[in-house]
Amino acid sequence: MSSGYGEFPGTRPRRLRATPALRRMVAEHRVHPADLVLPAFVREGAAEPVPLASMPGVVQHTRDSLRKAAVEALEAGVSGIMLFGVPETKDAVGSAGTDPEGILQVAIRDVRAEVGEALVIMSDLCLDESTDHGHCGVLDGHGRVDNDATLARYAEMALVQAEAGARVLGPSGMMDGQIGHVRRALDEAGHQEVSLLAYTAKYTSAFYGPFRDAVESGLTGDRTTYQQDPANAREALRELALDLAEGADMVMVKPGLPYLDVLRRVADEVAVPVAAYQVSGEYAMIEAAAGQGWIERERAIDESLLAFKRAGADVVLTYWAVEAARRAARG
Ligand code: PBG
Repeated sequence: MSSGYGEFPGTRPRRLRATPALRRMVAEHRVHPADLVLPAFVREGAAEPVPLASMPGVVQHTRDSLRKAAVEALEAGVSGIMLFGVPETKDAVGSAGTDPEGILQVAIRDVRAEVGEALVIMSDLCLDESTDHGHCGVLDGHGRVDNDATLARYAEMALVQAEAGARVLGPSGMMDGQIGHVRRALDEAGHQEVSLLAYTAKYTSAFYGPFRDAVESGLTGDRTTYQQDPANAREALRELALDLAEGADMVMVKPGLPYLDVLRRVADEVAVPVAAYQVSGEYAMIEAAAGQGWIERERAIDESLLAFKRAGADVVLTYWAVEAARRAARG
């Protein structure tokens, strides 16, 4: 490095920032539409899309509007859609999640009929959308989430989702052994080609608040006995080792922005693709601040997505996927 000439700096990083064309050329990271996955909610029995107050711009889809949203995502160049079903009837064991006619399975078939495999069809493999108590699993006689009884339910869910035509399943309930258990069930049923996106580091987070509105979750307690403690980063590496050993095809960190350190550690560690989930509360924060005129909406969105890429994500799940993909395609 040059020491400079008298009082002048000899090295000037600003030179490479001088014009938009130059900055574009030397950018280390960029967001490509194919990096993005759109999470989408579909509500059983909805006659019209239902707007979500805590997520301005996001709706609970009808079957019809979901099909249109899938086409829109495909046209914008988004690579995948992650489906969440909101059943009309919930019960203690989440029966809707294993019913071949449950709303999530119906939605998978609808999207598959509409766009085929041009979009990667992904589905949430968890019970919280279907249970009346709102937990991600079934409860034992003491009201505790029963890990191993839940695994059996996940295995059944995996089969109906695979049979409906999902290409990637996302077990998000943080039960011990869920990846291995679901993998085995899929393989035994001949679904070797269905992939698993492991929610490897899923933290118990206040940033899921608006999502619980979106799926009409009846949760009254919390998820601290199965989701990870926000105080722990090293623990994520333990979960990572287990998920990989159990057969995860991709791994994910969630939430996103508050956990970029975990994302970086995971990305440095693995050879499988790494995803990040920009969750509902992150969406709500930016929309709310922008709605007040306190931050520039589009810049804040694009900057947040770039941060995931910089931290090592290959894939980003974001409710802004379509809008961000359109901008990325221009950029
Ligand atoms: C569980 C699940 C949740 C989210 C995705 N999958 C909620 C939770 O674990 O409490 C949250 C996603 C978001 O907040 O956008 N099925």
